[in-house]
Amino acid sequence: MHPHRHPTLLVTTTLLIFLFPAHAQPRNFPLPSSFINPLIGSTGPEPNLSGGTIPSVSPPFGSCRWVVQNQQNFVSQTAFNYTENYKVHGFIGTRQPAIWMGESAWVGVVPGSGDKIKTDWEERGMDRIKGTEQFGVGFYGVELEQENGKIKVEMSATSRVGHFRFTFTDTPQQPYIFIPVTRQSTLFHAGDIYDHSYSPLGTVEIEEKNSSLEICGSNDEFQDQVLVPTSIADTAKGFKGFFCARVSAYSSYGIMEGNITKEGVDSGNGREIGSFVRFNHNGAVVVDVRIGTSFISTDQALRNIDSEIPEKDEVEDTRKKTEAKWAEKLGRFEIETDDVESKTVFLTGVVRAMQFPYEVHDPSSRGVNRYYSAYDNAVHEGDSYSGYSIWDTYRAAWPLQLIFAPERIPGIVRSMLNDYKEGGWLPMWKNIVETNIMVSTHADSLLAETIRKGFISAFSDEELRTMWEAVWKDASVPPANDESTVYSDRQEGVDFEARAGLTTYMNDSMGWVADDVHSESVSRTLDYAYDDHVLSILASLLPDRIIRNTTTNTDRSFNFTQFLDARARKNVWTVWNDRDSDGQSNRRHVQARFLNGSFNPDTTAGFTEGTREVYSFSQGLVWGDLINELVERRGGIQGFVQSLDEFFDGGEVDFTNEPSHHTPYLYALASPGHATSTQRRVRELARVNFNNTPEGLSGNEDCGQTSSWYVFSAMGFYPVDPASGEYVLGSPFFSNMTVYIPRSSVVHGDGDGGRVKDPHGTYDSRTDSYILNIIAEGAENKWFVEDVRVNGVSRKDSMRIKHEDVVWGGVVEFDMVDSE
Ligand SMILES: *[C@@H]1O[C@H](CO)[C@@H](O)[C@H](O)[C@H]1NC(C)=O
Ligand SMILES: *[C@@H]1O[C@H](CO)[C@@H](O)[C@H](O)[C@H]1NC(C)=O
Ligand SMILES: *[C@@H]1O[C@H](CO)[C@@H](O)[C@H](O)[C@H]1NC(C)=O
Ligand SMILES: *[C@@H]1O[C@H](CO)[C@@H](O)[C@H](O)[C@H]1NC(C)=O
Ligand SMILES: *[C@@H]1O[C@H](CO)[C@@H](O)[C@H](O)[C@H]1NC(C)=O
Ligand SMILES: *[C@@H]1O[C@H](CO)[C@@H](O)[C@H](O)[C@H]1NC(C)=O
Ligand SMILES: *[C@@H]1O[C@H](CO)[C@@H](O)[C@H](O)[C@H]1NC(C)=O
Ligand SMILES: *[C@@H]1O[C@H](CO)[C@@H](O)[C@H](O)[C@H]1NC(C)=O
Ligand SMILES: *[C@@H]1O[C@H](CO)[C@@H](O)[C@H](O)[C@H]1NC(C)=O
Repeated sequence: MHPHRHPTLLVTTTLLIFLFPAHAQPRNFPLPSSFINPLIGSTGPEPNLSGGTIPSVSPPFGSCRWVVQNQQNFVSQTAFNYTENYKVHGFIGTRQPAIWMGESAWVGVVPGSGDKIKTDWEERGMDRIKGTEQFGVGFYGVELEQENGKIKVEMSATSRVGHFRFTFTDTPQQPYIFIPVTRQSTLFHAGDIYDHSYSPLGTVEIEEKNSSLEICGSNDEFQDQVLVPTSIADTAKGFKGFFCARVSAYSSYGIMEGNITKEGVDSGNGREIGSFVRFNHNGAVVVDVRIGTSFISTDQALRNIDSEIPEKDEVEDTRKKTEAKWAEKLGRFEIETDDVESKTVFLTGVVRAMQFPYEVHDPSSRGVNRYYSAYDNAVHEGDSYSGYSIWDTYRAAWPLQLIFAPERIPGIVRSMLNDYKEGGWLPMWKNIVETNIMVSTHADSLLAETIRKGFISAFSDEELRTMWEAVWKDASVPPANDESTVYSDRQEGVDFEARAGLTTYMNDSMGWVADDVHSESVSRTLDYAYDDHVLSILASLLPDRIIRNTTTNTDRSFNFTQFLDARARKNVWTVWNDRDSDGQSNRRHVQARFLNGSFNPDTTAGFTEGTREVYSFSQGLVWGDLINELVERRGGIQGFVQSLDEFFDGGEVDFTNEPSHHTPYLYALASPGHATSTQRRVRELARVNFNNTPEGLSGNEDCGQTSSWYVFSAMGFYPVDPASGEYVLGSPFFSNMTVYIPRSSVVHGDGDGGRVKDPHGTYDSRTDSYILNIIAEGAENKWFVEDVRVNGVSRKDSMRIKHEDVVWGGVVEFDMVDSE
């Protein structure tokens, strides 16, 4: 479709600017349901080798994700693990963001029938009737069989409300639902893992309405509480998850305390409590159940039911609404291919990339969002999100969201700034509050990339000053007791970890994190340098009135851009050991260093979920022109390529974990002449590590990062240095993709009120999108790129593409061939 043009607004001969037509009929995107498989990645032989994903129902970035439950969840185990003959033990609205993080503020419902309310986990398990189960992003359905008849379950959900219809048939005994409120739970302590049962506390109250019942309550389960930084540990104790269930019918109700039934009782509190509702059963019984959630109060949970699901709506209506939200994300990719498997992995991957962080705030009647913060145990106005796995997501998930979820970016960024204001630091791995999981302050990367990719006009000067103040604190203020605290993985009883070891990293005569003081010292050094690099980019983009005018810095002559860039360039090489004496220049590696400057002879020391081979290709070593220095230190391009080949062929690459994700792109980055090796590695990695089965992810999904690697790779480019605004070209997976880029991923940076710039002539007013065509005839079987043209101009000599080339649309055309 041709862009809508307003010649009167032509301001230059090359640049066309026009207003979005006010009366355009927006086109609804279709939902490609048959290419979504929510079971991908939902099992594996062990937690590390599983996607850790669940086939959940919720809208994009939904606050609470609802899923059929076949196991209790805690750190290392999600609420659902696909097995062929699994039983259904109930339905849970979960906030557990990843398999290695804890649950908090969950809610649940379990249907059953019989005089006895089955609360026992084993006892309440029910068989699924073959062929009745349906998994979707906006709907889950199943028919369950039990000794007392059949139960049909239809489930949908909005962000804060689960919506169920239970149909009980052939039930000789009275049907019921059980609503568990608190359960026996598990805390996870590093080094001493599974043996820590703990008993959260909760309350529940039942109120009769006209013909319905309202069951409201709260529970304080917070499995990651052991990781809360000491300075906010006390305030975070105020945290609770609230819920209200509205049940459309009842004949009687009561409270469960463990397995003790309290008929007719309308309130309870304590450990392992719940409530139940029984229904009359003359023939089939159909019950509508809505379970609203909130982090603020039960009243707010009720308001969320009223505002998200109108009274008259059926489960089908809720399903339609939630599916439309997914269609807006998934329908933006039109893929012409005969490779149904890869298309399914791709589109399901887009789903996984658009789930986190999740909404914590609730809308209020005055149109201003409100949220509860466990950083200061108070309710504030504004947006808040949780589930920031930033060590993972800065690589490709955030870059993908910057293009395809632009409507979320300002809120997610403000949430990070709110965390800083309330807790003193930007998030690293926020799960309710900071958990100090993983290393480095990669929120720096998210923020720098956000500004680089044009969102500056979404923020006020005050917000931008807070942003700069927060990242400069990351770069310049060591954490508490930095010279004596190890800050090891999951270390308890410590304060915000931030950049542990920054004291020696900042010291001009040192520059590395000392391995005899801190854990993961090499990874930290490289990651801090990477973050210095992105902050150097941010400093170059923020106007002086921002970065020279914060409460923490008023020095008008200090050049942040220059300082951070220079510090990054110097410090990365402090952990590089050039003096390997085995005569092989291509074996030179990073290595841990002690406080006294000598290298740790243990070459396995100092790494975060990786090895020295992996970290010798770290993102901290390959940004900008630094890649050239790495190439030189590996003995020139031949030595470098040989060392990459050995890395892949010798099995050092570990694609089940994030530090390897960008490595296949390094051939093309270092030398466009070696791009075919990138193409081969990318296609092999995609084939080996992803497929359309429950075991289809070789490693943890990690809040969308793993699938985002696949989505970018399938489009034919990858953000090796995200904040630079450049991508490295690879090998696209499909013959023909038409991608509808949301206009608002482009216009923020213009500062001209949402007008459209259309330098490539690709704007489509019907979808309010820029159209990007990625053409790669035969790519399904042909892996190698003979030539690639971006809007007609060959990029074979650079194998790079700019963010603007992507988001303003146009044609990227790959000539695919069979062999290198
Ligand atoms: C899932 O369940 C299967 C079968 O019980 C088990 O072998 C596997 O380890 C489990 N996977 C995860 C990731 O818990
Ligand atoms: C895999 O999981 C175990 C805990 O079960 C953990 O100790 C180990 O470090 C993990 N391995 C990797 C490579 O992450
Ligand atoms: C009961 O229903 C009537 C009529 O629909 C309504 O006006 C009233 O507010 C309801 N009462 C309660 C407690 O919900
Ligand atoms: C109730 O729970 C207690 C404690 O867990 C257990 O000992 C008892 O056997 C249970 N009773 C029934 C009837 O299930
Ligand atoms: C910097 O490191 C040197 C060498 O370890 C040390 O002597 C000096 O005290 C350090 N400076 C600061 C400010 O810590
Ligand atoms: C510095 O910021 C304040 C607001 O915090 C503003 O009033 C002032 O004009 C700014 N100064 C400069 C030089 O930009
Ligand atoms: C700061 O340093 C950068 C990089 O060296 C340079 O491009 C820029 O012009 C400098 N800014 C000022 C105000 O000197
Ligand atoms: C440096 O420190 C390490 C670790 O404490 C120690 O093993 C080594 O002997 C020291 N080297 C020198 C030259 O002092
Ligand atoms: C690619 O797909 C689009 C949309 O279906 C179609 O209009 C176009 O002709 C196709 N291009 C090629 C080269 O196949």
